[in-house]
Amino acid sequence: MRLRIYKRKVLALLLALGAAACALALWGGAGAGAGEAAGEEPAGPAVGGSSSSSGGSPGSPARQAGNASWGPPLAAAAAEGGGNETLRLRSLVYRLNFDQPVRHEALWTGRALGAGEAPVALVVQVHERAEHLRLLLASLRRAPGAEKVLLVLSHDVWAPELNALAAAVDFCAVLQIFFPFSRQLYPAEFPGSDPRDCPRDLGQAEALRRGCLNARYPDAFGHYREAAFAQTKHHWWWKLHFAWERIRALRRHPGLLLFLEEDHYLAPDFYAVLQRLWALRQRDCPDCQLLSLGSYAAVRGGFAQRADKAELKSWKSTEHNMGMAFARDTYEQLLACTDAFCAYDDYNWDWTLQHLTVHCLPRFWKVLVPEIPRVFHTGDCGMHHKKACRPAAQSAKIDALLDANRQHLFPEAMSVSKRYSLAPVSPHVKNGGWGDIRDHELCKSYRRLQ
Ligand SMILES: *[C@@H]1O[C@H](CO)[C@@H](O)[C@H](O)[C@H]1NC(C)=O
Ligand SMILES: *[C@@H]1O[C@H](CO)[C@@H](O)[C@H](O)[C@H]1NC(C)=O
Repeated sequence: MRLRIYKRKVLALLLALGAAACALALWGGAGAGAGEAAGEEPAGPAVGGSSSSSGGSPGSPARQAGNASWGPPLAAAAAEGGGNETLRLRSLVYRLNFDQPVRHEALWTGRALGAGEAPVALVVQVHERAEHLRLLLASLRRAPGAEKVLLVLSHDVWAPELNALAAAVDFCAVLQIFFPFSRQLYPAEFPGSDPRDCPRDLGQAEALRRGCLNARYPDAFGHYREAAFAQTKHHWWWKLHFAWERIRALRRHPGLLLFLEEDHYLAPDFYAVLQRLWALRQRDCPDCQLLSLGSYAAVRGGFAQRADKAELKSWKSTEHNMGMAFARDTYEQLLACTDAFCAYDDYNWDWTLQHLTVHCLPRFWKVLVPEIPRVFHTGDCGMHHKKACRPAAQSAKIDALLDANRQHLFPEAMSVSKRYSLAPVSPHVKNGGWGDIRDHELCKSYRRLQ
């Protein structure tokens, strides 16, 4: 019975959001003459206008998405909030996800690809660490081929500082999208933390006695949900759907999406290597469902004889969750595993994927990964070290390594050097943190909505 109530609640939330989206679409049709919401545009004017709303959301009036088009709707959104900042932000975000203004779009639509070169979009999950994002963007800027990608920044925090970083990208097409169920947008209710939720460590008997909202749904370890931890998995799964199904610039995208996070850092030849790996996949491992740009192991020794080698392995979340790239076929396999992904009691998206590789996907995943990584992590200092994190020091170290080996970068071709014994890998523990039925239902809803 509880379960029904939660389902109904989630449904109500989703209906409300749908209604908001429709209202905004209508506004878009009518908007004229209202004031500017200065300084609000995250992506600013889309050069040449954003892609037309052909086949976007049903019922949307065809709109001219010119450079002034944010003014009236944003003003309307602000007015709608009635001075309530949370409501204002929600409207803004729905509006932007709907309109999808792509900056420098002509670079993407006009890109010239060589024979066999796959179109590539980068999808970066961005939380709130501007300094890391700045470094990632700097690493992208210097990489030949970057001008051909569509850069999608998927945010769960609206922040002027992050928007300014996105606005400063002038070397490739950029689209900002916003996870619409973030804690920022729902600060005091699900999917954020509701004051009526059970505290994490409350015993279930006491929780039932108190009647807190999710008393019946602790995780496998008897803990209640923590919104901060649940958000990352939600965001990951939402953006997977949104990128493959809702981003108009990626409609029928026949190439790869490369998934990154704000604290990743790219080698200058990442794009070239990604294309080589893709070619290698076609030739030597058509059933490699994933490419990874590198694992975490520290690089020892020089790059000679290694920078043009890739390994073929069973996919392991702890090694190959960075710089993952895959095509639509892999997405479709994942889509078919929605229920398994959303109900698995682990708040880590990557461990959950590991679970899918043995319990839902048609076969465990094989991955091609270069011996010398082309993606690095600048963010681990926060997790394991007490001292202040200095991402710029990390990236300087990485640059020194790359620079010392620059004659080995940009390999002409790549080959598979090692084939490890391939076998399914089960997650050895389940981490919990994902026992709440509301999380399950919201997570399952992404494939249907927006
Ligand atoms: C963009 O704004 C400029 C200045 O207001 C205007 O002249 C131009 O026509 C606008 N372009 C579009 C596509 O709306
Ligand atoms: C703003 O709106 C939200 C959502 O309806 C509500 O929960 C919150 O209390 C409002 N904030 C203020 C300050 O009124």
